[in-house]
Amino acid sequence: MASTTPAPPPHRPLKTTIIKVSQGSKPNQEDAFGHWAKPSPKEDENNLTTSHLNTWVTPQPSPSNFATLIPLQQAADYLVKNDIPLAFPTETVYGLGADATRSNAVRGIYTAKGRPSDNPLIVHVSDLAMLRDLLSDPIPEIYHPLITKFWPGPLTILLPNPSSRQSSSKKKLPPKLVLAKEVTAGLPTFGARMPSSALARSLIKLANRPLAAPSANASTKPSPTTAQHVYDDLQGRIEFILDGGACTVGVESTVVDGLCDPPVVLRPGGVSIEELRQVKGWERVEKAYADAAQLGENAPRAPGMKYKHYSPRAKVVLYEAPSSSKGVDDGKLLLETEDLDLALQQQQQKQQQQQQPLEGGEEKKTGRTVAVIRTTSWPVAAGLPTTTTAPASSSGLSNGHGNSSDLLPFKVTQLEFSHGQQEKVKILDVDLGSDIRGVAHGLFAALRELDRRGADVIFVEGVSDADGQDIAAAVMNRLRKAASVIR
Ligand code: TXA
Ligand code: MG
Repeated sequence: MASTTPAPPPHRPLKTTIIKVSQGSKPNQEDAFGHWAKPSPKEDENNLTTSHLNTWVTPQPSPSNFATLIPLQQAADYLVKNDIPLAFPTETVYGLGADATRSNAVRGIYTAKGRPSDNPLIVHVSDLAMLRDLLSDPIPEIYHPLITKFWPGPLTILLPNPSSRQSSSKKKLPPKLVLAKEVTAGLPTFGARMPSSALARSLIKLANRPLAAPSANASTKPSPTTAQHVYDDLQGRIEFILDGGACTVGVESTVVDGLCDPPVVLRPGGVSIEELRQVKGWERVEKAYADAAQLGENAPRAPGMKYKHYSPRAKVVLYEAPSSSKGVDDGKLLLETEDLDLALQQQQQKQQQQQQPLEGGEEKKTGRTVAVIRTTSWPVAAGLPTTTTAPASSSGLSNGHGNSSDLLPFKVTQLEFSHGQQEKVKILDVDLGSDIRGVAHGLFAALRELDRRGADVIFVEGVSDADGQDIAAAVMNRLRKAASVIR
């Protein structure tokens, strides 16, 4: 595995500007961004089920959509001409986009993000016409029902890359658009996604280029779900962040490979494995990723064993839900004082060794801070006997250093716990609720917010992902990667 340490920015720090994109006025919000062209009778005949996604059309700027289209057009022009990536919202997480057909532009992504260049990027298209321009063969049949059901949306499909040596053949017509080799990290396939965010599709359409875009976080950090998160991570490394408000899904797309038999899920995400199984040809789809939880029972994982990802600075201690495969006792679920002790001690040692400097937007703190993220059944502060120190309202709904679109989808309640004779530990309590969509929506924002508030340790109540019915698999996959201890 290549190093995951972020590379320094190439030149002196850039000035980073957040550009607000108006969402248009309700009820025709989407119309401000564009609309799908009605397929011609011939198109309809050729690809019956997917032809409605052939062409996404952006409107001419007019007084009614000016605040939407002008910033998008400027951003699109920037992407075509520059080699510095630009951040933009999608329904899953914010992406760090660059023209996927130009090597220099794509290299700019790896530099800005500090991402190892052996990790391939997803190619985002506005419509099927753009996707077909990247291919020298028709879209494989296996994907047609998936596209019909889940596109536009949080699903990435692997397709043969015509420009790779393995799949190039002299007989075939060259594709109209050729991906820069840096997009695929040398693989014979590329991942393609059509986002359901109309803002994202219009940006791509106006650039008239497919956009390679990883999540717009610094490598190893939780993915960004607001423009402010992107700013916190990439300030000085990019020039522009389009702000389209908070992402609705909150976890990344599901990545599937239908070119093998049986088809496989490479990364769980916004579309669940059960939803995939209901689609023709995908009944036998298998999971081809391993979660940390499967690597060992309760034991803390050795440092270095884990590929650090989705991680806040705080130590994350994850409690698996009792009904998941690990079968933890109901009685053992709640946080105990010994857990607290151990976690705090370990984190303190780590901090003394590392003396980490404060990052952008982070609060200076005194004393020790423990955070609890609850989901389905934990009581406030995971049952620790606490006292209230600040009224709930003062714990705030805004992160206080961003703009109004960065309202948090949860409340942070500040409490206090008497630890031993002398010490008062600050407790930050976040309730993400029991609805899994709400948990996914708030998860990354919660990890970031608790980091910003100086949490030393974050105890997280996991959700059950046993039945594969919903996006719990994606939530638990990210949490298991973020956690340094799983109980
Ligand atoms: O929701 C999402 O997918 C977001 C938004 C911005 O669209 N993007 C995203 O990109 O999460 P990234 O780079 O953070 O994750 C891309 C994932 C990685 O796990 C990568 O290994 C996998 O997709 N991937 C991309 N191309 C691949 C390929 N050709 N073969 C196998 N895996 C691939
Ligand atoms: Mg990512």
